[in-house]
Amino acid sequence: MAFGLPSFSRPASTPLLGIDISPSSVKVVELDDAAGGGVGLRTYAIEQIDKGAVVDGNIEQPEVVAAALTRALSRMGSRTRGAALAMPASAVIAKRIRLPAGLTEEDYEFQVESEASNYIQFPIEDVNLDFQILGAVGAEADEVDVLLVASRKEQVEDRVAIAEMCGLQAVVVDVESYAACLAVQYVTDGLPNHAQGEVIAVFDIGSQATALSVYLDAEIVFEREQAFGGQILTQDLVRLYGLTPEEAELKKKSGDLPAGFQSEVLAPFVDQGAANISRTLQFFFTSTEYTKVDRIYLAGGTSVVPGLLEAVAERTQLPTALLLPFEGMQLDAGVRERQLEVDAPALMTACGLALRRFGP
Ligand SMILES: Nc1ncnc2c1ncn2[C@@H]1O[C@H](COP(=O)(O)OP(=O)(O)OP(=O)(O)O)[C@@H](O)[C@H]1O
Ligand SMILES: [Mg+2]
Repeated sequence: MAFGLPSFSRPASTPLLGIDISPSSVKVVELDDAAGGGVGLRTYAIEQIDKGAVVDGNIEQPEVVAAALTRALSRMGSRTRGAALAMPASAVIAKRIRLPAGLTEEDYEFQVESEASNYIQFPIEDVNLDFQILGAVGAEADEVDVLLVASRKEQVEDRVAIAEMCGLQAVVVDVESYAACLAVQYVTDGLPNHAQGEVIAVFDIGSQATALSVYLDAEIVFEREQAFGGQILTQDLVRLYGLTPEEAELKKKSGDLPAGFQSEVLAPFVDQGAANISRTLQFFFTSTEYTKVDRIYLAGGTSVVPGLLEAVAERTQLPTALLLPFEGMQLDAGVRERQLEVDAPALMTACGLALRRFGP
């Protein structure tokens, strides 16, 4: 999705930074064409932001977010100025509509706009509208399915402004779940038979929320979010061991944790996380026509918490793996492989955004 920005008209291979602005951090990924063909990871960076700067997808403190992005850019040392950003799904209205095939671009724009006014509560001039033709319907192919995406201009402009504050130009404004979908697709393309016909559950376990997206043939067929994330661990570290939230965050990542943490805090957390995931899968089965899930991927910063992956596999009895979006990519010399292993699952959305440079 382009939100009125020239994403579809952009020439292929425009250098692009994938920038994921989430409640806990700003994550930036730059991909390029690898020397021997395929995709290469040039650089990436994750910079923490303080709680309160981004709330429910709204940028409350632009200067805090811009400062984090500036730190990320300077660590990456990239000269690329084009940016791909994303809107949270909660700030976006997406509808599939059906229109006649073979209209001109202007006619589609007109039709999309008049359809959109049926779904949108606020004045159409406050809205960024975009659409993508998904494909022909029926044997006659006289109709097409069109994905209509609308978002408040204000919220799009907030993100564009962050990029500009950092000397970047927003070339693409995507939707987080669509970007994540690209990264998931990149991973599942590497599976036998491109995982065709497989029902794949991706749990994105972040700081405050765990989001389930279920995929079938590279399309999202089910989504659900619940309040469970690494924030619980951080708060326990603060409450039980007298750390500041910043110290707690650092210790979570370095693994240098107080005695007793494993049994008092981590074990119950892992148990709760795995139980949540298993319950959400049950909910997926009871509320849809699907009767199986073929594999589970865990993504998000909290997916790497020790023991969680094993606990999920044990409880669900399903093949479970971390989502590693850079698997098979060529790594630039500057990328630290060991660190990337820990960071990769959190970079799903940023990676999907960076993949936009390789075509819509
Ligand atoms: N190496 C690590 N070990 C344990 N926890 C980690 C590690 N790296 C990051 N985290 C935790 O992951 C969380 C951040 O994950 P992520 O960046 O996916 O969340 P977010 O997208 O900002 O938030 P949300 O998805 O909840 O809106 C934080 O709670 C952080 O402490
Ligand atoms: Mg997240």
